[in-house]
Amino acid sequence: MTDSPDAPRTLQVALGERSYPIHIGPGLLGDSRWLAPYLAGRQVMVVTNEAVAPLYLEGVRRGLPEGLEVRELVLPDGEATKTLESVSRIWDALLEAGFNRRCTLVALGGGVIGDMVGFAAACYQRGVAFVQVPTTLLAQVDSSVGGKTGVNHPRGKNMIGAFWQPRAVLIDTDTLATLPPRELSAGLAEVIKYGLIRDADFLAWLEAEMDALRGLDAAALTLAIERSCALKAEIVAEDETEQGVRALLNLGHTFGHAIEAHQGYGKWLHGEAVGAGMLMAAELSQRLGWLTEAEVARVRAILEAAALPLAVPADMAVDDFLAIMRLDKKNLDSRLRLILLRALGDACVHDETPAETLTALLAEFPRR
Ligand code: NAD
Ligand code: GLY
Repeated sequence: MTDSPDAPRTLQVALGERSYPIHIGPGLLGDSRWLAPYLAGRQVMVVTNEAVAPLYLEGVRRGLPEGLEVRELVLPDGEATKTLESVSRIWDALLEAGFNRRCTLVALGGGVIGDMVGFAAACYQRGVAFVQVPTTLLAQVDSSVGGKTGVNHPRGKNMIGAFWQPRAVLIDTDTLATLPPRELSAGLAEVIKYGLIRDADFLAWLEAEMDALRGLDAAALTLAIERSCALKAEIVAEDETEQGVRALLNLGHTFGHAIEAHQGYGKWLHGEAVGAGMLMAAELSQRLGWLTEAEVARVRAILEAAALPLAVPADMAVDDFLAIMRLDKKNLDSRLRLILLRALGDACVHDETPAETLTALLAEFPRR
């Protein structure tokens, strides 16, 4: 590595023997220095989807050293394919290829591919190595780090899964050049989330840099990814299996998951649903007397600047939200647990929201 401004940066997710690096920079794909050290043995299966394969599969091929037994599996695209059936296709391909416990799966794509490949790796022969190569902003700042893997169930998002950490996360920032603007905005929702839950200075920096980020300014994007990954790595190291602080990463997600499940997976992007959900959480925090009107206005303004939705689907009634929110994995002993904001940059888990306050928020929040 050199000291040039383009030189990849490396962060660590500190989990004892299962610690792993996150490498961030341009040009990582196609350079075998980055992938080779994390392969468990000679058998490698690269799993991607039909949208990403034409763009980046060749880069991964070039980044693999000679002499390996390499297989490729290209799955259909989309959140609606994040199912146990798709994961079964990965297991089928591994078994047909005769892959053993020292194989490595490479997840090339967004969060859908990363979550499914990680889950396939967690279960194949009781656990094999995998490397995350995230190609959406959302996957680069969130889903590829921390080892949450799994699939959706018709009754709830990410309801079937496992904690299984990758051996490394390789973030090639060049891949963002082909990302559709709507997907970029969805990723920005998760970036904004870190500022809201834990880092008010980062939130202020994001407010100032939002135009640069939406314009794909490489320096701004790299800094945003690095800070987001650093915050996520810190939280995961503290609480790998979400017994405490990790739950804060779900700001906006309880409302957001309800939107995604009600509308049908894939209609709203995950990040869009989280964006609207974070505004709902901010408004609820204001109703509880924790945030001021001016602070909620800041949340609305940064989400708007990131081109994220500020209203929820017109066909979602209060009971539609409540029915799905009651299934949320954070709930304990049938109490609804929500992530709310005590201040900007300071989130908390709260399970004492009065039912009438929540119902009023859900009824009065703008529809579109
Ligand atoms: P995605 O994987 O569906 O990717 C979005 C779209 O962009 C897809 O069509 C994909 O094929 C395409 N794409 C990917 N990279 C591209 C590129 N470089 N250029 C052009 N197109 C590209 O969605 P996502 O937003 O990346 O991830 C959402 C998923 O992640 C959800 O299922 C969500 O539940 C999950 N998630 C998981 C975690 C976690 O901790 N495991 C955290 C957040 C979200
Ligand atoms: N995206 C939430 C988490 O990783 O815990």
